[in-house]
Amino acid sequence: MTHKHIIDLDDLTLNELDKITSLADEIYKNPEKYNEACKGKILATLFYEPSTRTQMSFQTAMLKLGGQTIGFDNPMNSSVAKGESLKDTIKIVSGYANIIAMRHPMEGSAKAASFYSSVPVINGGDGGHLHPTQTLTDVVTLHHELGRLDNLCIGVCGDLKNGRTVHSLIKTLSHFKGNRFVLIATKELTIPDYIKKIMDKNGCSYTEVLTLAEAIPQLDVLYMTRIQKERFASEEEYLAQQGVFVLDKEKLKSAKKDLKILHPLPRVDEITIDVDDDPRAIYFKQAVYGVYARMALILLLLDDNSEPAKPSFEGAEECKNPRCISAQEKYLPKCYKTAGNDKICEYCDAKV
Ligand code: NCD
Repeated sequence: MTHKHIIDLDDLTLNELDKITSLADEIYKNPEKYNEACKGKILATLFYEPSTRTQMSFQTAMLKLGGQTIGFDNPMNSSVAKGESLKDTIKIVSGYANIIAMRHPMEGSAKAASFYSSVPVINGGDGGHLHPTQTLTDVVTLHHELGRLDNLCIGVCGDLKNGRTVHSLIKTLSHFKGNRFVLIATKELTIPDYIKKIMDKNGCSYTEVLTLAEAIPQLDVLYMTRIQKERFASEEEYLAQQGVFVLDKEKLKSAKKDLKILHPLPRVDEITIDVDDDPRAIYFKQAVYGVYARMALILLLLDDNSEPAKPSFEGAEECKNPRCISAQEKYLPKCYKTAGNDKICEYCDAKV
């Protein structure tokens, strides 16, 4: 049997994305209609990195569909502690479960896992690279709350370098007509070049600014993110970035009345608690939509018989990114794809 993996939200066509959004909507309105839809099916959640929302919302989604779950949230309680490779773990688990959701600190890890899985693999976050199901959550949230995904001015604020949620979000929303991004970050934490190239390729305009205050008045959506402490080389470098962007009630005075404030959560100090009561703050609701988004995704994948996209293997060249999974799991085939004039690592998108 063939199936699809969701490593990047671009693995779905815009038509499929629309199908999932509508299905999430339908499940939200009639949840009881779906409470046996995955009876007899098992979801494995393999979380090599901490998680609250992603792991629990996947588990909740499968339980609400009448299925069951297995997995670990601390790899040190699994054979990983004995030195088992990602390949072997995936080969074993794909013999136990019908679908796998995984999170791993190395970039490209979900892609690597998909090479060895006989069941669909969903990327629940691979290091600072991508987080497609958070984007699915964001898309379902915007669809419910705004009724559209196009012609939006979207401010994205915080750690745009290491924040995987914003990489996936920009990739997906840059496909929709008339969207414009305002990227709010310090010089040290700007968005990776490959994401800028994707916006350019999709004809999506963007500006880069250094303060929240200058961005806020024009925004339809403000996507706040935390500084990704765990991705910094030293505590000192993190402390230099901490607390630079803080959204508070005062700053919101210049915002549109119907602004939507999103955050993938967890929040550290980038949104003050008093903003929570503002009707424009919808980040807690957003986490609830995540369950319905994942229910729809699980249903689509378990019902899908299409061929997964084949890795391109356009050529073999060692990736120099130390955070790439190919730097850790040495048996992985070295492979790159071409994007414009660049050769890009198949796993982590870094230039090779
Ligand atoms: C995000 C993540 O893990 O990337 N959280 C989430 O999944 N909702 C955001 C973050 O950790 O900052």
